[in-house]
Amino acid sequence: MHWAKTQSRARFNLATSGVGSFPLAELPVQPALEINGDSTYGYAPLQQAIARKCGVDPDCVVAAAGTSMANHLAMAAVIDPGDEVLIERPAYELLVSAALFLGAEVKRFARAAEAGFALDPAAIRRALTPKTKLIVLTNLHNPSSVLTPDAVLRAVGDLARSIGAHVLVDEVYLDAVYQNTPRTAYHLGPEFIVTNSLTKVYGLSGLRCGWILAQPDLARAMWRLNDLFGSIPAHPAELLSVAAFEHLDFIRARARTVVEADRAVLRGAGLQACAGPPGPAVPWGTTVFPKLPNVDVDAFLARLRTEYETTVVPGRFFEMPDHIRIGMGVNTEMFSEGLRRLGLALDGGL
Ligand SMILES: Cc1ncc(COP(=O)(O)O)c(C=O)c1O
Repeated sequence: MHWAKTQSRARFNLATSGVGSFPLAELPVQPALEINGDSTYGYAPLQQAIARKCGVDPDCVVAAAGTSMANHLAMAAVIDPGDEVLIERPAYELLVSAALFLGAEVKRFARAAEAGFALDPAAIRRALTPKTKLIVLTNLHNPSSVLTPDAVLRAVGDLARSIGAHVLVDEVYLDAVYQNTPRTAYHLGPEFIVTNSLTKVYGLSGLRCGWILAQPDLARAMWRLNDLFGSIPAHPAELLSVAAFEHLDFIRARARTVVEADRAVLRGAGLQACAGPPGPAVPWGTTVFPKLPNVDVDAFLARLRTEYETTVVPGRFFEMPDHIRIGMGVNTEMFSEGLRRLGLALDGGL
């Protein structure tokens, strides 16, 4: 996160993870704002909007400051220090850090590059112990954007249930599956806890509109924990979030145009020099995670930045230093030129 905040920017920034920012001026109806509102354990109109979108009861919804706080609250509610938490590898680094911060004993299960980063319940089964309290994964997978089908998620749920554990699924990228968008994994069983926000697929990061879906008793525990951290949210952001939910399809469609244009550019570019599954072939999502050919990655990325004014996310942040993460969905002209420069730098080798 620190790298993303301080080092990722460049003229040709392929180090993004979500779509470009959605400007307030483009909301079809401008909401009336107010500073203070009736928000204790949730602002009712926002609770209902989230519940409607997810097809759940509002009692299952815990509002949180982005998926970041949602993940933290969800973990904090089910982990005690010393509990084992099983987290996918490669993983969004902050999932690991949050579990460690809470005193968990973090164990990992592999999503193998050779298997296209597919989630393998057998790998999870091998890593489970009676001390496992939580299994953590992302769907879509960050960094590869691989989608896990419901049947596989169910198998993971069965494993968790057999030892009284939960499965935390971070779905912040899931709505970037634009056709036949899967329902949230929350519907797959009571052992599932889901986190999400309007950040990555909607370009609304500034609202910090995140949420957790959990069984009502667990949801209540999370609300009480949030008294420690956020107490109540910024009410203007709640009002803007409610307005955003009223136009969510429009907001998503606007970004989809850019994501799909970028994906077409990516396919066309082929990135011959990049190898490794699933590479640029994943048909959805806002990021891809190709393997670099045999280069000195640190030197290559430094040269990409200084000579080609282009950034990508170094794979070392995902514990796979010979990969890079490329982001789509911000600006196709910039993406296209950044990709051309990446290709030139790769052709030049090191
Ligand atoms: C998997 C994952 N979860 C959560 C987040 C943070 O999302 P938010 O902006 O909603 O806090 C990110 C951001 O990169 C992410 O990749």
